Amino acid sequence: PMILALWAVFGYLLGSIPFGMVLAHIMSLGNLREIGSGNIGATNVLRTGSKAAAALTLLLDGGKGAVAVLLARGFGGEDTAQIAGLMAMLGHCYPVWLRFRGGKGVATFLGIVLSLSWPVGVGCCLAWLAGALTSRISSMGALFAAAASTPLMISTGRAQGLILGIILTLLIFWRHRANIARLRAGTEPKIGGKS
Ligand code: G3P
Repeated sequence: PMILALWAVFGYLLGSIPFGMVLAHIMSLGNLREIGSGNIGATNVLRTGSKAAAALTLLLDGGKGAVAVLLARGFGGEDTAQIAGLMAMLGHCYPVWLRFRGGKGVATFLGIVLSLSWPVGVGCCLAWLAGALTSRISSMGALFAAAASTPLMISTGRAQGLILGIILTLLIFWRHRANIARLRAGTEPKIGGKS
């Protein structure tokens, strides 16, 4: 239990690094809170105009989820990996450094799912593309990707990751409640649009 707690803390701390904010600061792209949705994720970093910073944010926010799972699995096994993954996601969404006002967890979710089960992860990435390309809206991609994970885990027999997958899916929908309201109102901005 002591080791498990250590990996939980490690996952949380790694997940809580807000790479979008860090990059926006380093690259002098402005204050993400005052841009677009105010979110710290890659989609909002793209609204600063820097595709490079957005791509890097996606990679690093996804990478931290994957690294948390893979390291924890290597040292502690599958259950430890799942705890570390969950905690990385909670760290991203509720980072102590930002008074618990973090991101929406999409990139981190994809990194976690890819490292839990790469076929499910690839399926979720494809679902993101399907949702985002047909609507040109990032949050639509996010909801597609999150919704796809549970059926994908069931159909590929990934019973082990199922509970974690469901928790992460619910968390993504919860974090997107403002986006969902805008989608319903028809006011959600398109990718690359102003705000
Ligand atoms: O990853 C978050 C994305 O799904 C929506 O971001 O900035 O449009 O709220 P944003």
